[in-house]
Amino acid sequence: MTTSLAAAACAVLRAGEPEDKVALSHRIAQEWRGGKLAPGGVVWLPDRPARPALPLLKPPRDMKRRRAAGSREGRIALLHALAHIELNAIDLAWDLVARFGGPNLPREFFDDWIGVAEEEAKHFSLVARRLAAFGARYGDLPAHDGLWEAAEATASDLLARLAVVPLVLEARGLDVTPAMIERLERSGDHDSAAVLQVLLADEIGHVAVGVRWFRWECARRGVEPAATWRALVERHFKGALKPPFNDGARQAAGMEREFYAAIAALAR
Ligand SMILES: [Fe+2]
Ligand SMILES: [Fe+2]
Repeated sequence: MTTSLAAAACAVLRAGEPEDKVALSHRIAQEWRGGKLAPGGVVWLPDRPARPALPLLKPPRDMKRRRAAGSREGRIALLHALAHIELNAIDLAWDLVARFGGPNLPREFFDDWIGVAEEEAKHFSLVARRLAAFGARYGDLPAHDGLWEAAEATASDLLARLAVVPLVLEARGLDVTPAMIERLERSGDHDSAAVLQVLLADEIGHVAVGVRWFRWECARRGVEPAATWRALVERHFKGALKPPFNDGARQAAGMEREFYAAIAALAR
């Protein structure tokens, strides 16, 4: 019997330990490519994915400001925050596949998002390895509890999910990562900087996948992409979209400046 892809994706969301989420992500990607999983499937999805007992999740306002990136503690704090983002990104990718991946979608939709999920798993492992090099591990510090909010706010509409998660949040990653790389280089931590370079290159691809399927879904619904994006962001995203933008990386992901300039101009 062929398992459904949705059931497989759901298993990642139900796994509490990061190591299990990572291992399952790679296994499911392999099974998908081997034709062992059928797209679609009906599953009961958790509102929030299972997580390990640690880190302690704190409301964003209770998070301590990051220490200077140059110090050992500062680098551990940065890597820990990144590990947390990547773990959320693994769940976000599988949640999208399980929640919105009906059998009427083209095979490339699944190829793309499973590819994203697998890369997020790789990112978590890369960052966890850097933490280990400092004698630290994911769970040592408290982490931001706000990251799943965007998923909850957009749980009922694929277009809204794409508008906020890849097109706002992952695109924001493109804007802020180069400065982190520079700080790490300046402090002499070339190994962590190299890991962030890999993340940045891959994330351009994730934003590109987001743009591709956002445009595809807009075309299917017969709506205009830029205006639709703006309306969805206004409705579902509480934060601000503000410069400086990494225009080069955004363009490489297929995001034209006019596409986000109108949103950036919105006063919030
Ligand atoms: Fe990532
Ligand atoms: Fe990503």
